[in-house]
Amino acid sequence: MTLIDARNLPRHVGIVMDGNGRWAELRGRPRTAGHRAGSHAVRRIVRVARRLGIEQLTLYAFSEQNWGRPDDEVDALMLLLQEFLVSERDEILDNGIHLRAVGNTRKLPVYVREALDELSARSAANHRMVLSLALSYGGREEIAEAARALATQVRDGTLRPEDITEASFRPLIPSVSLGDPDLLIRTGGELRISNFLLWGAAYAELHFTRCLWPDFTADDLYEAVASYQGRQRRFGLVPFVRPFSRLAEPAEPTAI
Ligand code: FPP
Repeated sequence: MTLIDARNLPRHVGIVMDGNGRWAELRGRPRTAGHRAGSHAVRRIVRVARRLGIEQLTLYAFSEQNWGRPDDEVDALMLLLQEFLVSERDEILDNGIHLRAVGNTRKLPVYVREALDELSARSAANHRMVLSLALSYGGREEIAEAARALATQVRDGTLRPEDITEASFRPLIPSVSLGDPDLLIRTGGELRISNFLLWGAAYAELHFTRCLWPDFTADDLYEAVASYQGRQRRFGLVPFVRPFSRLAEPAEPTAI
């Protein structure tokens, strides 16, 4: 059994849901069967995260690079997304979940976009949890777009290059509005973040598991949260040490 401290939950959890293809391959089934099983895991984990009290859950459901997969796989993923948005509508609305999307959603087929826009609008006033789907999403792409917007302001004479700071980028990077993820989980055994929330994940705690996404259960999420709770977050600062005592417990980070 995994023990979790309810007072120290990560506020924002991001998940790279990897391993659907391998899950299907292990069973001699087409990759699309793995994605379908993956969509069941999405339903399960949204419910678990909500009950646990996670405020923000961001799922990497389709990357900008995923458009390069075979057409039948892309089509199957789009259908699964639309099915999810329709079948989960009542549960999302009844449980105070605000559904958001981040990414280049203009590229999605119209039937997905409509379902997405409708549920985003209907759930916009919900505050119990924010569920964000990263769709047609790329971390580098959104940073490049922000740089383009700043360059345009410089060209137009409304911004001086020397005034460009980290803070100038923030309002121009859409995923930044979700807040920085505290905990970033990747299933499927690979040790990389694959263009997910690049800006926001600068200080995220990373948790990698070999578990394939369709097999990811409540226990796996609890394990990731427990691992997060065992970390000391310092954000580039140093842990507070009481004067004259090197045995003090770690407390709030403090600047030197
Ligand atoms: C990566 O696994 C997963 C994806 C590219 C898609 C994730 C989609 C879902 C979990 C289902 C649909 C989403 C929702 C929100 C209903 P992979 O196919 O790259 O796995 P592999 O590395 O084993 O090949």
